Amino acid sequence: MAQYNRVDAEYVKEINNTRSDLRSLISNKKCAPIMLRLAWHDAGTYDAKTRTGGPNSSIRNQQELNHSANKGLKIAVELLEEVKAKHPKISYADLYQLAGVVAVEVTGGPAIHFVPGRKDLLESPEEGRLPDAKQGAWHLREVFYRMGLNDRDIVVLSGGHTLGKAHKDLSDFEGQWTRDPLKFDNSYFVELLNSESKDFLKLPTDKVLVEDPAFRKYVELYAKDEKAFFRDYAKSHKKLSELGFNPNGNYLSILTKAVLGVVIASTVVVLGYLLELNKKIN
Ligand code: HEM
Repeated sequence: MAQYNRVDAEYVKEINNTRSDLRSLISNKKCAPIMLRLAWHDAGTYDAKTRTGGPNSSIRNQQELNHSANKGLKIAVELLEEVKAKHPKISYADLYQLAGVVAVEVTGGPAIHFVPGRKDLLESPEEGRLPDAKQGAWHLREVFYRMGLNDRDIVVLSGGHTLGKAHKDLSDFEGQWTRDPLKFDNSYFVELLNSESKDFLKLPTDKVLVEDPAFRKYVELYAKDEKAFFRDYAKSHKKLSELGFNPNGNYLSILTKAVLGVVIASTVVVLGYLLELNKKIN
């Protein structure tokens, strides 16, 4: 089944209006961290083998929202209802991913290229597809490789923890990763390498990024070069937001229909001509 919706000029215009409403909501409510987390948790269930899960808004389904990894995300789902009410045409799946992109942008992070057209689905994947913060490198790889992502994606996307906090009642962890949890910068990596720093949170899955040599080389790069972090983050975030969604499929299907139309029209013309020719000969 196609994983995209038809996108026309009207829809693109509506996406632009939605983007500006999201900017206001996220800045006014200072809710960039939870919006980024919502976008990631909707997308991060993707399984490349079975092509199930992914950024399809199934997270708004009560059953999935109740998965233990999604504790607290109801707030983000509810906040986005007011934007959805103003732009009913926009799919929830596009809305959640656009909110993630805007969250990074309004907190000073890189611009992330956004392509609309995701389809809504209410069919939720089984519980347990998102990473468990108490586990190690093998587990991170198992989860991210299942999505079709790689080591660099794992490290650079973990940089999303430059925003926000952990809340004891939601995840059993407490604290923030960086000095300013509303500023998207490379300080997550700087703090990770600073073994002296006891002020900031380091989840077991954050710590493995410095312990595993294949991960560590990226941590070192992003800690010293914020430009490289922003460049790679924008690429990996786009990948994450498009798991199982082929934005070109939309244009391809329009192109296929156009080509088919031309072929049918030409066939009719040629047949008509042959018929006329036949009449003349007889
Ligand atoms: C690598 C595996 C990951 C694990 C194990 C993990 C785990 C967690 C945990 C335990 C929390 C605390 C939740 C709470 O108590 O409220 C959290 C928060 C957060 N995570 Fe992750 N995470 C991972 C990857 C990511 C990625 C890829 C992103 C985004 C690109 C992300 C963005 C966030 C944000 C923004 C918050 C703060 C939410 C808030 O302040 O409400 N995380 N994560």
